[in-house]
Amino acid sequence: TIPIFRTVASLREWRRKAYLEQKSVGFVATMGALHDGHISLLKHSLSRNDLTVLSIFVNPAQFAPTEDLSTYPRTLEADLALLEQTKVPEPSTESERITSAIFMPTVHDMYPSGITQDVSGQKGTFIEVKGYGHQMEGGSRPGFFRGVATVVTKLFNAVEPTDTYFGQKDIQQGLLLRRMCRDLLLSHPEPGHLHIMPTVRSPVDGLALSSRNAYLSPNDRKHASSLYATLNVCKDAWRDLRDKNLAIEKALAYLKERSSAAEADGVLIKPDYIHMNDPDTFEDVQTYEEGKAVILSGAMWVGKTRLIDNIILGNA
Ligand code: PAJ
Repeated sequence: TIPIFRTVASLREWRRKAYLEQKSVGFVATMGALHDGHISLLKHSLSRNDLTVLSIFVNPAQFAPTEDLSTYPRTLEADLALLEQTKVPEPSTESERITSAIFMPTVHDMYPSGITQDVSGQKGTFIEVKGYGHQMEGGSRPGFFRGVATVVTKLFNAVEPTDTYFGQKDIQQGLLLRRMCRDLLLSHPEPGHLHIMPTVRSPVDGLALSSRNAYLSPNDRKHASSLYATLNVCKDAWRDLRDKNLAIEKALAYLKERSSAAEADGVLIKPDYIHMNDPDTFEDVQTYEEGKAVILSGAMWVGKTRLIDNIILGNA
């Protein structure tokens, strides 16, 4: 069975051995409630590194006081079973690779100076990637990326990964963390060793897999794919009309139709945002340029569940 390290000290001891044996260590950070999106990151890491660490830590610092920290899905037994099952072939041998270590630190270990939900009551050290945390998802969740950057720095310091794998599902997170690694001159991972892997979706209707999908009732779930569909409507309208406002208007009109259908099932759908941003600066993209990379991102509420998704347009 896969060893579980619950303290930073015990993980460090394991990591020291990996250094002595000159083994590469891949790393996948998660908040648990594992699904095929997480597993795809894990498989990338397993197939490209001698050893792989997966962390499970529900990070209080990235939840606002009004958000779902206390109800966030915690499914440890199922997570462990899924990890035990996940294997990739070991190159040029008959054997298989599985996860080498699970890191499940306590809140106390990760936040030795303590942590409160309320930012004004916080003490200790936090990481802020200034100028890159207030657009897109950060516009709706002030403080979110500060919490993410802080915990991921700590996780990187504990694991000292050679390479690390994040999902495109949370594109702003991945790009912001890449910038953070550069700005802080981190050597674990080195620049270029933070990889952003494609979003894994339901093969049936394209809904991006997410731990929060567990909140969806069967009726909610029927209508949850309207976010991805709306982004695709926006993508086509942007290509055809080359006008941002018109494209978003068209997309919102489409979502409105989908909302009416949902309402007939007793499901309330509410858009939060649709944005188009430059992947380097995160600034709003105003004008169409053939082939230019654009992050088209969106968030919406399905009942009490908030969903996010994005597609990259042009040449990323
Ligand atoms: P969590 O939501 O558990 O996601 C962990 C990783 O899985 C992230 O890199 C996320 O982008 C990726 N992921 C989620 N859904 C995916 C999907 N459908 N396809 C591909 N990858 C997917 O993101 C976090 O946790 C936290 O913010 C964390 C980075 C762990 C810091 O607390």
